[in-house]
Amino acid sequence: MKLLKDKIIEEGKVISDTKLDVSSFLNHQVDPELMKALGEDFAEVYKDYDFDAFVTVETSGIAPSLFASLYSEKPLVIIKKEDHLKDESVYSQQESYSFTKDHEYYLTVKKEFIENKKVILIDDFLAKGSVAVNCDKLIKQANSELVAIGICISKNYQEGYKKLREDGYDLYIQAELESLDPETNSIKFSK
Ligand code: G4P
Repeated sequence: MKLLKDKIIEEGKVISDTKLDVSSFLNHQVDPELMKALGEDFAEVYKDYDFDAFVTVETSGIAPSLFASLYSEKPLVIIKKEDHLKDESVYSQQESYSFTKDHEYYLTVKKEFIENKKVILIDDFLAKGSVAVNCDKLIKQANSELVAIGICISKNYQEGYKKLREDGYDLYIQAELESLDPETNSIKFSK
């Protein structure tokens, strides 16, 4: 998606070969016009899909997915990250691990919002793919189906991209990165 790629080129900062700083527009300061455009793009991609709701994982996926939800006229369910187990009659939970932050947590959602549904997951980044894989487990646990995954920025050279493709997920990515070079602050796109 050209608008997102242009923004990444203009404002993205390469921190390391696996970390791109997008804090000026996506995950700290947020550019609402860009978020609106990303959401509209997701809504267009999924307009003929049979699904009940979008899901995202707090926090940074919320902004683009809220606009996708608005344009698709479907609800958005925010999966929370909790550090402890909760009442299992009310909540579905799935253990997950953040490689970036090196800690374990539970993806957590109220059963009433997710049971027996077809959902599309939207997230800001695809890196190792643990969020997507564990969301799928959580969704299956709730007797629901993950019909597609929409990602704003994928670092295609990390494990997540390959894994989700090999596992046959329906994957749509708005900006696909081929490499990041911290020495030259260069960002290469796959296409
Ligand atoms: P994985 O799902 O792909 O396995 O990734 P992992 O758990 O290791 O980490 C996911 C977190 O790391 C997410 O944020 C994601 O936004 C962030 N992340 C991954 N790659 C990059 C990157 O290149 N740049 C930046 N800025 N962030 C990246 P989170 O911890 O879930 O926090 P939140 O911002 O959504 O609250």
